[in-house]
Amino acid sequence: MTANTRTDDRPVEIEDIGTNPTSNPSFTDLIASRLSRRHLFGLGVGTAGTALLQACGGGGGGGTAFPVLPPAPAPAPAPAPAPTPAPSPAPMKLGFNAVAKSLADVVTVPAGYTASVLYRLGDPIASGVAAYKNDGSDDATTYDRRAGDHHDGMTYFGMNASNKWDATGASRGLLVMNHEAITPLFLHPTGQTITGSGNAAARTVADEVLREFYLHGVSVIEVNKSGGSWSYKQDSSFNRRVHTLTEMSFSGPAAKTDYLKTKYSTDGSKTRGTLNNCANGTTPWGTYLTCEENWAGYFRRIAANDDANRTAKELASFSRYGVASTGRELWATVTPDTADNLYGRWNTEVVATSGTAVDDYRNGANTYGWVVEIDPFNPSSTPKKRTALGRFGHEGACLGPVVVGKPLVWYMGDDSRNEYIYKFVSTKNWDAADIGGGTAAGDKYMDDGKLYVAKFKADGTGDWLELKLGVNNITASYAAYAFADAADVVVNARHAADAAGATRMDRPEWTAVNPKTGEVYVTLTNTNSSSRPIGKTDAANPRFYNDKTTAGKDQKGNPNGHIVRFADTNGDPTSVTFKWDVYLFGARSTASADINLSQLGADNDFSSPDGMWFSQAAPGLLWLETDDGAYTDVTNCMLLGALPGKVGDGGAKTITNVDGSTTATQATFVGKAPGTDGLRRFLVGPIDCEITGIAESGDGRALFVNIQHPGENTAKADIGDPSKYLSHWPEGGNARPRSATVVITKNDGGLIGL
Ligand code: FEO
Ligand code: CA
Ligand code: CA
Ligand code: CA
Repeated sequence: MTANTRTDDRPVEIEDIGTNPTSNPSFTDLIASRLSRRHLFGLGVGTAGTALLQACGGGGGGGTAFPVLPPAPAPAPAPAPAPTPAPSPAPMKLGFNAVAKSLADVVTVPAGYTASVLYRLGDPIASGVAAYKNDGSDDATTYDRRAGDHHDGMTYFGMNASNKWDATGASRGLLVMNHEAITPLFLHPTGQTITGSGNAAARTVADEVLREFYLHGVSVIEVNKSGGSWSYKQDSSFNRRVHTLTEMSFSGPAAKTDYLKTKYSTDGSKTRGTLNNCANGTTPWGTYLTCEENWAGYFRRIAANDDANRTAKELASFSRYGVASTGRELWATVTPDTADNLYGRWNTEVVATSGTAVDDYRNGANTYGWVVEIDPFNPSSTPKKRTALGRFGHEGACLGPVVVGKPLVWYMGDDSRNEYIYKFVSTKNWDAADIGGGTAAGDKYMDDGKLYVAKFKADGTGDWLELKLGVNNITASYAAYAFADAADVVVNARHAADAAGATRMDRPEWTAVNPKTGEVYVTLTNTNSSSRPIGKTDAANPRFYNDKTTAGKDQKGNPNGHIVRFADTNGDPTSVTFKWDVYLFGARSTASADINLSQLGADNDFSSPDGMWFSQAAPGLLWLETDDGAYTDVTNCMLLGALPGKVGDGGAKTITNVDGSTTATQATFVGKAPGTDGLRRFLVGPIDCEITGIAESGDGRALFVNIQHPGENTAKADIGDPSKYLSHWPEGGNARPRSATVVITKNDGGLIGL
């Protein structure tokens, strides 16, 4: 399979194709269970109670505010009734006027708020580095000290006067963010210089490739509030870029195994770099997790050259992960290569045909696809790839409820069409003494545990299926992939999940855990009609429809996406069962009732949910971001504020899907329609951007949001004519567009969104 086809300006993304060939549960193949409201409510809402605080994505922190809770005390005798009942706290309300949908090349926020640009592509993060010229002429060797491109998942770590983590830090912190990918057109004088075409296409300017190596990865920057406004500190000693040349170590079950041996690391203990870092996560000890998503497409592996040198298992692995292309940026094609294979390492073919895995980079692709831990408070620390959390197209890793004496849990999406939702549960129980322990604490909690994948059942319940050698069909006799050992299971986690019988979802993006309930939300951004035809809907991925654009163009499948949520049984994240419903369905407000199932209106309709994060300063407030290509005839991408209820607050529903003259019914569970009190548009971004990445200051009075790739669909032929750039944000005029972080404050200094 050719996963990435270089067509005009940009390659097709692997997440848009999918590489899951299995027929894992398609509920149309099962005997439909009878769905009823009584069934749903009869399952019992998780009794999470007050112990369910967490710190996914941002917030959290050390010191007094960190949500570390003692074990639940033994039941005490009921106290005497208080003479006067305490007044109930006022219910939380969204406190802003909805922003209208917009096609303007600006960032729009509600009246009473201010959005300021904080950190743009190319901005210098070390003293002595010149301001970014933004014309493709900046010195390539300075890019390891500049902001990367395509800002994405992000966490704010408050920092105290002793330079330690302090979640309450409201005016000084480390902002850590991913740089997912690049818009190469605007990085070089006239875009990428490429000779030849097809398999012969080659990069000829090494400096262009060096820029691109540095522009991927992660930024750590110190940010400060002064006089009410925020800026980053260019000369902070904490500033750091982690990129594709940064040395990383492996830990967990795949470390130091044959699967990870390369010429760079002959014992399989190390690799260079991280890539396509999409969403993020946090740990309760104060480190950052960055997640490697569409890494497969960066590797060069021409099947016609390489297949004859591979085992059947290796080919099955490549096929399942989509490692079969020229490499989306053609990095492996630069000649001559360097002595340390700066370029050749991106060729994951068998090159040393008379040698072994330590003589080339035939295992290079196995060294990507992981969750990577970075300690932002220790700029010289080596990032660690945590193999126990499995290898797939990691979107993010959201930390679940943190309770002293209980295991830790992270919820994770694999973003490609028809992929799965996972969770990892640590073997060790949380000990708050590990706060500040850096990656050594990570060794304790993240290298040993259980990896599970989710199966959504038609009755509104679900199972977590353990991915472990010898259980759930994960054996040497599994037909599609003969598992050999524990390392094989994590390196080939997608095959293991297939074997276990997980539910194929409409592209799992971010996961978020509601600190009020412990319930887990997962954005399923969208899918097309080939991966979700009308005959292959299921209860958790229930819609097939035609979302016609205003120009009458057909968009079939589930082009607007939805958000599923679930509650682990008894509010216990280590449970192996859960109950679920669909919290929200994306749709045009003008769509019919069987499409616009959440009854969205003009003030809250959206498509393609992606980024999603619960505020820690305002528990219960959810932020929702879009990465949309389906509703962009009407509006640019957006950020919405929401006050979700809980699993089961709506009910069972049978919908009718329509494909031309074909109709089909599908039973599902639909959350309570939010109305504008429960969901409201807060921000609309500039043209051709994605809104992604979100974090808040320790007091919730500054919200950091990333604007990714404005103007990215500008035609390569138009690079010489700035009037044809699709966006000039944020500089305006004739400037090239730049991905950037904006910081949003309320003019009265209040909490954002309320
Ligand atoms: Fe990088 Fe799945 O978004
Ligand atoms: Ca994303
Ligand atoms: Ca996306
Ligand atoms: Ca993106």
